[in-house]
Amino acid sequence: MRLSLRFVVPLLAILAAIAYAVLPLVDGLALRWFVRDLNVRSQLIANALEQPLTESLARDSRKHTTAYLTRIITDERLYALALCLRDGSSVVATNTFPESIRCDDLERFDLPLQRLIDTPQGLLHVAVEPLKRDGLQIGDLVLVHDMSFVQRRSEETRRYLYAFFVALGLVISLITVVIAQLSWRGWVQGTRALLRGEGLVRPSERGALPELRMIERDLRELMRDLRTEYRSRDPAQTDWSPDTLRDILRRDLRGEDIIAVSNREPYIHVRKNDEIEVLRPASGLVTALEPIMRACSGTWIAHGSGDADREVVDTNDRVAVPPEHAAYRIRRIWLTADEEQGYYFGFANEGLWPLCHIAHVRPAFRAGDWRAYVEVNQRFAQAVIDESRDASPIVLVQDYHCALVPRMIREQLPDATIITFWHIPWPNPESFAICPWRAELLDGLLGSSILGFHTRFHCNNFVDTVDRLLEARVDRETLDVTYGGLCTAVKRYPISIEWPPPPETTRKTVEACRSDIRRRYRLPAAQKVGIGVDRLDYTKGILERFMAVERLLELHPEWIGKFSLIQIAAPSRSSIREYQSFEVEVRALASRINARFAPGGVPPIVLRIAHHGPAEVYEHYRGADLCFVSSLHDGMNLVAKEFIACRDDDQGVLILSQFTGAARELPEALIVNPYDNEQCAAALHLALTMPPKEQQLRMRLMRGLVQQFNVFRWAGRMLLDAAGMRSRVYLGDKPGLPPKRAVPRARV
Ligand code: G6P
Repeated sequence: MRLSLRFVVPLLAILAAIAYAVLPLVDGLALRWFVRDLNVRSQLIANALEQPLTESLARDSRKHTTAYLTRIITDERLYALALCLRDGSSVVATNTFPESIRCDDLERFDLPLQRLIDTPQGLLHVAVEPLKRDGLQIGDLVLVHDMSFVQRRSEETRRYLYAFFVALGLVISLITVVIAQLSWRGWVQGTRALLRGEGLVRPSERGALPELRMIERDLRELMRDLRTEYRSRDPAQTDWSPDTLRDILRRDLRGEDIIAVSNREPYIHVRKNDEIEVLRPASGLVTALEPIMRACSGTWIAHGSGDADREVVDTNDRVAVPPEHAAYRIRRIWLTADEEQGYYFGFANEGLWPLCHIAHVRPAFRAGDWRAYVEVNQRFAQAVIDESRDASPIVLVQDYHCALVPRMIREQLPDATIITFWHIPWPNPESFAICPWRAELLDGLLGSSILGFHTRFHCNNFVDTVDRLLEARVDRETLDVTYGGLCTAVKRYPISIEWPPPPETTRKTVEACRSDIRRRYRLPAAQKVGIGVDRLDYTKGILERFMAVERLLELHPEWIGKFSLIQIAAPSRSSIREYQSFEVEVRALASRINARFAPGGVPPIVLRIAHHGPAEVYEHYRGADLCFVSSLHDGMNLVAKEFIACRDDDQGVLILSQFTGAARELPEALIVNPYDNEQCAAALHLALTMPPKEQQLRMRLMRGLVQQFNVFRWAGRMLLDAAGMRSRVYLGDKPGLPPKRAVPRARV
């Protein structure tokens, strides 16, 4: 509005000035037109009067002539008439004839513009026309017109002109204000449209306006940058993808390399029939971290456990992966059989694994295993230090095999940003306290800048454990733990899988997967199929799953011969006694159930204990009617999410144990207690009879969640938090600037 006024006021002033200058010109012009009119008019009147006047004069009737002239001037504009005769016989005139006009002085009215005289009666026009008789001029007829009407008209014209200019000013002002308002609104709408990602020009106009297209492109880029920047700071707003991660690394972490450390490597080279094959291990950790490393590049330090691993590395024990399209490198650590026995099988998997999972397997802690664990952790930490290009690398330490690594890195690289993620549950303080090296483990983990768990429950358990077992300060609100002058942020980052899922997950059609799977296991084409995919591990509830199938067939015999559960189980940690006996139990139970319900017929349980590559696993997910995840205790469980990702047909039912982290995110699954045999059997029956529409509704909701809360979000949120910490430490180090948080300044 103010903008409009700024334009309108000067405009009105200019219009007033124009009116002031124009009006005298208009007056002069109008006067000239009237004079010309009166000249013509006078001539006409003179011509018309010539004959009657000469006749009247011929009769020498002066009186009669005067009366005649007086009659003629009743015309409103003709003011006076006079006859100036050449014979000197004086003048015949109407009594209105001005005294200032004399017959002997008529030459002064010869020029048209000199015919105006100002008299006490007003402005008069004087025209002198010759009066002729028989072709001889006998005198002059003087016609005097009243010009007061010109003045009246001129005033009227002035009034009209003033009104015209005022109206013009108002109209222009109005148009200006309206256009200003519209264009402001248009601009606002345009900007909003741009913010919404709409174009400046309609598609139909695009061909015609190449210049606008360029501007549009530039603006789009700018808006995209702004949006990315804004969104990357607001995890809830972001569409998480490999690009988002790269963006965070580039912008928020100034292009730092990532160094990941885990026991398990993402690609294992093995010898098979004189050929080297590459295996993808069955590991939730690898499923999640591998896409992150592909997106971020850097180095992944891990145990080289394949029998051909040494053959493919360079002199620095590095190999570029993925084999088909290198994106990052693995730095392999070699362990002796004794080291692997003590550190991996012993302390990690006979001690910490059962300690952290409530699966009723007693943890075993041996001093020799502990020593191996410390040594191997030191080896991993040293590899991180060797691989760091500067004093403040970003290190992602993974899982329970590497609990001491954070502290060991911190001691040598105090400025490193160490993000540790614990992929398995964290037990309550009483359970954890049975570990003889509990304080050392906690101390090791508290070398981290950030320590992540899947669920809030596990974070609380960890903080409670620290509170109970260490001299540390715990902030219950933020879950920051300050220990030995350093602060560790304990946070929840629910892990997930990559989205969109890799193309091979859905390359084969659901129909083809269904028929191939049934053909492969010699099942009838119409057989209902459930799928279980796990490592052969006692925490996965495989026995409970089989028992649920048995109970289903007892309660609903109509499913005998009509339903089979295909269990594919990757052999795991098989040199541990518990795992060996577990395998025996699993095989025995499957045989017993099959013998009971299908002697020689269609087996209700199909057990395949073997390593299955990703393509085979995806095929099973797509070919099944339901997926049964019955873990007795599980940090997250990515099998549930992989099944969902593979079902782009929106069909298939997920039965999910309430003791998995995933159950907190996927309420649309059929949530069960795996220890409750009846409930699990009922869930199986419900899944097998669920209408396709309901399956679709549930699957769509779950797919939406996995899409949004994908693994790039998991890593992205950790990296953003790390970037925030680095900035705060940087600010805290500036003289005069207080640390941002009330805890002692920690190195992160
Ligand atoms: C769990 C652990 C991972 C581990 C995986 C497979 O998911 O959290 O750290 O890699 O099991 O176990 P494995 O012993 O074969 O590495």
